[in-house]
Amino acid sequence: MSFKEKIAKIAKEKSSRIVLALDLPPEKPYRALLSRALQILDETQEYICAIKINRQLILPLGLLGEIRKIISVAKDYELPLIMDCKLNDVGHTNQIIAEYYFEAGFDAVTANPFVGWEEGLKPVFEIAHKNGKGIILLVYMSHKGANEGYGQTVKDTETENLMPQYKIFARKAIKWNADGIVVGATYPEKIAEIKQIVQDRVPIYSPGIGLQGGKIEEAIKAGADYLIVGRSITLAKNPAETTKKIRDIAEQV
Ligand code: XMP
Repeated sequence: MSFKEKIAKIAKEKSSRIVLALDLPPEKPYRALLSRALQILDETQEYICAIKINRQLILPLGLLGEIRKIISVAKDYELPLIMDCKLNDVGHTNQIIAEYYFEAGFDAVTANPFVGWEEGLKPVFEIAHKNGKGIILLVYMSHKGANEGYGQTVKDTETENLMPQYKIFARKAIKWNADGIVVGATYPEKIAEIKQIVQDRVPIYSPGIGLQGGKIEEAIKAGADYLIVGRSITLAKNPAETTKKIRDIAEQV
């Protein structure tokens, strides 16, 4: 089963399209991060369909260290694990980085399509798909400056037409057989435009809910398939209750 199929199956079974971004504010000793992360995971696992880990947890806990405990608990809960490493280097380096994450137990990684295909992301797609792993491409990020890169009007190298960069990336996501694309929940109009291009071929992952200003209903109505939610859950007084609430709102749209 491909990563895309795996997460869709779990989302359906659990009636949840919430990907928990297990991000925590810095804490010392670093070990304290592990127990907090595990506690949040235990409390919320029932209401989520996947977990996304970022470098703010990998760096203090270490890929060969405490992060393994989180990976193992996620596996026990049968939750797919996404590593938000935003691969952005030349191909052989991207490949080595992705292999480390896949070997550690991650099921998918995020990557930046700005690096292109040949000697860029091609080696990573090849090794990922050979091993049933997923690649999720950034198409329009959730922050204010996203328009400076993803929103630029550029000349498409294939058609020579002037187009917004994010539309070109959405088309490449189809062509490259990406397992998902990231479009910020803070830009529902972009989600809608991009959905028209990818339709049901590539699922849309939408971060930026809550603290970044994105709205659950707007993102889902515009076409988001999964919502990536971090601090609204991890900093909540009651993470379980908050996750359930976000899950329920998203399911009712
Ligand atoms: P919050 O706390 O804002 O966390 O709910 C969101 C998580 O998602 C990451 N993030 C993004 N990742 N493209 C990405 O690939 C984006 O546009 C984007 N916006 C936020 C963020 O780093 C955090 O882990």
